[in-house]
Amino acid sequence: MTGRISTGGTTGRISVDGGRLRSDLEELARISGPGPGVSRTSFSAADAQARAWFLDRCAQAGLSVVVDGIGNMFVSAPSSSSSSSSSDQPYAGDGTPAVWSGSHIDSVPRGGRFDGALGALAALECVRRLHEEKVPLRRPVRAVVYSDEEGNYRHLLGSSALARGFTRAELEALTGRDGDRFVDTFVAAGWDLDRATQTKVDPRVIHSTVELHIEQGPQLERLGHQIGVVTGIVGLGGGSITFHGRADHAGTTPLAARKDALVAAGALVVQLPGVARSVSDRAVATVGIITVEPGSANVVAETARLTVDFRDPHQARLAELGRAITAAARAVAARYGVGVDVDFEPAIPPCQLDEGVQAVIAEAAAGRGLVASSLFSGAGHDSQNMAALAPTGMIFVPSIGGSSHCPDEDTAWDAVENGANVLLDTVTALART
Ligand code: GLV
Ligand code: MN
Ligand code: MN
Repeated sequence: MTGRISTGGTTGRISVDGGRLRSDLEELARISGPGPGVSRTSFSAADAQARAWFLDRCAQAGLSVVVDGIGNMFVSAPSSSSSSSSSDQPYAGDGTPAVWSGSHIDSVPRGGRFDGALGALAALECVRRLHEEKVPLRRPVRAVVYSDEEGNYRHLLGSSALARGFTRAELEALTGRDGDRFVDTFVAAGWDLDRATQTKVDPRVIHSTVELHIEQGPQLERLGHQIGVVTGIVGLGGGSITFHGRADHAGTTPLAARKDALVAAGALVVQLPGVARSVSDRAVATVGIITVEPGSANVVAETARLTVDFRDPHQARLAELGRAITAAARAVAARYGVGVDVDFEPAIPPCQLDEGVQAVIAEAAAGRGLVASSLFSGAGHDSQNMAALAPTGMIFVPSIGGSSHCPDEDTAWDAVENGANVLLDTVTALART
């Protein structure tokens, strides 16, 4: 959505507490499952602990929090709390359209400490500073933590629920990285499935949204620039492809007599980069998980299920990429004499971010004496769902070595503070319009 935003000034500017933000990020990073890096996959025990920690940090700051049915968390100063809002629109406050800023605190397995956490905790810091300084604003600023951004169960789950809602049947069909059913894990963790199906926001309660995030790529570092003003976000497609073969004895079954599901799956994996290249020079396709059954060293694979993540900046090419991958999977299945099921979720379209919000971000960066450049995001973000609901912008800060979704992910602390100050100035300007 574009067109409702005009730029404001920088009168009465305050700054974030960079030391407090750093200590919040370091504390949150210690909440993790086992292994290197940060493992806080959504609705895991570590995710629950991180949510409790976050709620505690909000309570310590005297802020109000509303948690919706799918687990999105909304933080605001007490005067703009949800006390008067109805339970089906817990985000409404007193009805004044609010500026939303947030990101996620779930992570990929063995991820880094900044992806998501930076934007979520910097948004908390902004609301906290605005509250501490009693900064006069025309509209509330809410810090938001979106649920399951990394798609343990479904990519951008929380913001997708806000944007389009989920039926019970859709939620019942979701399976996690560990093969668990979303509904089982969700209910066992104390969440209410009926409330989850009621989650959907009336966009009239949102004035605009802004997300601070690490770049997750090398461009800002290469340019030597401090701030990225994000122009748009890649389209996301994906789901699973399952090859169905026949279990057989690994020693006695001649090669020519086999229907080996994993051989077919492997052939597809090797082909995928070429399939992506044939569609566009910006298209990518990734297999991150292969699950083989029955899963024994001495049994020919009966089934092999691959996750497939594919992306392109253009809607038509994203659809073409999905069709090309499906065709390749069917051709491979025919060649190896096995069956195949392609099960892709509805794609999340690429989006352009709001030019008015981009201008406010650029002005905020300039006001802090920071060099900014415009960037396109190859990573997915909740902002691409929010962009369909309200004028939306994103701010990037440099990733050291461009690394992300791995334990090496890193961003300098002065870059963290720069980004948080640009976010603070941006949400302040938006909340004064
Ligand atoms: C989100 O991190 C994504 O791009 O997968
Ligand atoms: Mn991520
Ligand atoms: Mn992220």
